[in-house]
This record gives sequence, structure tokens and C-alpha cells, in this order.
Amino acid sequence: MARILTGIQSSGKPHLGNLLGAIKPAIELSQNKNNDSLFFIADLHALTTVKDAELIKNHTQAVAAAWLAFGFDTDKNIFYRQSRIPEVTELTWYLNCFTPIPMLQNAHSYKDKADKLSDVNAGLFTYPVLMASDILMYDADFVPVGKDQQQHLEMTRDIARSFNHYYNEEVFVIPEVKIDQAVMTVPGTDGQKMSKSYGNTIDIFLPEKKLRKVVLGIITDSTPLEDPKNPDTCNVFALYKLLGTHGQVKDMRANYEGGNYGFGHAKQALFELIMDEYKTERELFNSFMENPAELENRLQQGEAKARKIGHKVLNRVRKVVGFKS
Ligand code: ADP
Ligand code: TRP
Repeated sequence: MARILTGIQSSGKPHLGNLLGAIKPAIELSQNKNNDSLFFIADLHALTTVKDAELIKNHTQAVAAAWLAFGFDTDKNIFYRQSRIPEVTELTWYLNCFTPIPMLQNAHSYKDKADKLSDVNAGLFTYPVLMASDILMYDADFVPVGKDQQQHLEMTRDIARSFNHYYNEEVFVIPEVKIDQAVMTVPGTDGQKMSKSYGNTIDIFLPEKKLRKVVLGIITDSTPLEDPKNPDTCNVFALYKLLGTHGQVKDMRANYEGGNYGFGHAKQALFELIMDEYKTERELFNSFMENPAELENRLQQGEAKARKIGHKVLNRVRKVVGFKS
């Protein structure tokens, strides 16, 4: 039996990058009967960037609805909100005491956010330690994430190893990162990594008209309609390639290279592909958003199950550091 664990921040509505990079591959792993899975909403992490309580609530609901719309089985697995297991912050403290400051200073994600955001708080800096705690508290074996999280996972492994080494005991399971090679990094509407923090996301759950507007807003160059175009440098094609079948992608490449095919045409085709591909998920998402009591119920069930596992691991830690006999 292998344990799979991953989290998504509730700092915004889930976008195509989250869905392809994290939610879909994680759900596929959870469907293997030899795995048990813990998937959670990282609302404590979200607070590093979002302070508006209503927004956090709405986004938490949307992230939960997205997991369920994509078919996560919350009876067989464990689905919860990070903040409802406050013991994770206790473990974070222990781990803080085993985390060298230079390791945190070298985090790409921190450096990137510190350059871009006006609110550079200590939570952003210690973010990777809370993430290590999320993972180590449940003895996770595999953590499916997008490529941007690879360094955070390496930090988790380093922190766990140095803790185990210090106490000369296998207190923590050393987790392995799982990155879907076919997806890697989904580009946003501006060609950078798609991210809630950069305002370049495609939210596939938007009402049809709004979704179309977002897709038509993808940045392209100004090659005239009649000229041949290079698909491999185009943001629209990069997204199309991730969703289309082999045949669809081949045809789209031919359209680009043949000329007389504008970026507007490609965007319309991408929009139609999204609407088609995610028809069922869009309907399910809306029905869950209209039924917050159902979401709440499933999350509370998961919280009780998560807490049981977390307590066991935390007690191992409390003992080894000398706080409990
Ligand atoms: P964001 O960068 O939008 O704040 P999160 O940090 O909450 O997204 O990411 C949640 C999960 O989605 C992580 O596993 C992350 O690696 C994955 N993910 C986020 N953006 C992308 C992307 N553009 N491409 C692939 N995976 C992504
Ligand atoms: N930091 C992750 C992200 O931004 C979200 C996250 C928090 C997470 N804790 C985690 C992912 C634990 C995997 C495991 O994408």
C-alpha cells in the first residue's frame, strides 16, 4: 500500500495548470486500489498571499468542488482542509528547528514572490517548512505536484533526513516527488507559468462567455493572418497541445504552418476544445458550488480521518524530542 498526498492552495479559483499539473494526475493515482490518498486544501498556505476572509472561503469552496468534479472518491480516500488540523502547525515548529535559514533563502518560489509581491511576510519565507509538515505528518510515500514544487519537495526530504539523522531513528518517512512529465508546466495566457499569483490563469469553470473572453485574451505575436506561423513559439498552441488528441494537434500544426490561419481561429478552436473536453466537469462543479452543505460534510469526514493519522505521527515526534514519554 502506498500513501499519496498532495495539496492545492485556496489562494484563487483552481485553474487549468492546477487541474493538469496536480488534480488530474493525483486523482489517477488515487484510483489505483493499492494506494490510499490524502488530498487537501492548503488554506494556511493561502493566507501568505490572501487576507480577505470571504475570498478565502469562496476559493476553498471552489478548490473542493474542483477535486470532486474531477472524480475524487472521498469515501475511499481522505479529503480535508489543512487549517482544520491545527497540529500541523505544531509539527511545523519542530521542523523549523531543523531547517537551515540558507535553505529557505535559496527557495526559487520565495525569491520569485519576494520580487513580485508587496507583502513579503515571514509566512512566505517559512512556507516550505509548513509544506514539509503537511507531508511528513501523514507518512506520505508519494507527492504528485507540478514541476514548480520540485524544490519544495527536495527541502521536505532534506528536513526529514536531518531530523531522522539527528535522533538516529526513522521518525519520518522520506517522501518521493511525482511529476507528470507530459504536463510539467502549463503556460498561462501570457506565456509565463500559469499561476494564481500572476493573474494569467484560465479558469475552465467560468461561464461560457467569460471563458471565451479569457481564451481570446491569450497573448500572441503580431504575425499577419496570411503568413505561416511557428506553432512551437505560440502560447495558444502550447495549451492546445496539452488538451487535443494526437490528430487534432497534428491538424492544428498544419494550420499554423500553412498560413491563412489567424491566431483568432486558433483561439476559437482552443475555446471549443476546452468546452468539449470539460463539459461534464463544468456541470458537476456548478452543482457542488450550489451545494456547500455537501462539500462541508465531505470535508468534515476527511478531517476526522486525517487527524487520526496525524496524531500518531505527531506523537512519535513529541516523544523523540523529549516532550512526551
Ligand atoms: P498557483 O501557482 O496558481 O498558486 P498552487 O501553488 O496552488 O498554484 O499549485 C497547486 C498545484 O498545482 C501544485 O501541485 C502545482 O505544482 C500545480 N500547478 C500550479 N500551476 C501549475 C502550472 N502552471 N503547471 C503545472 N502545474 C501547476
Ligand atoms: N505549495 C503547494 C503549491 O503551491 C501547495 C501545497 C501545500 C502542497 N502543502 C503541500 C503540495 C503538500 C503538496 C504537498 O502548489
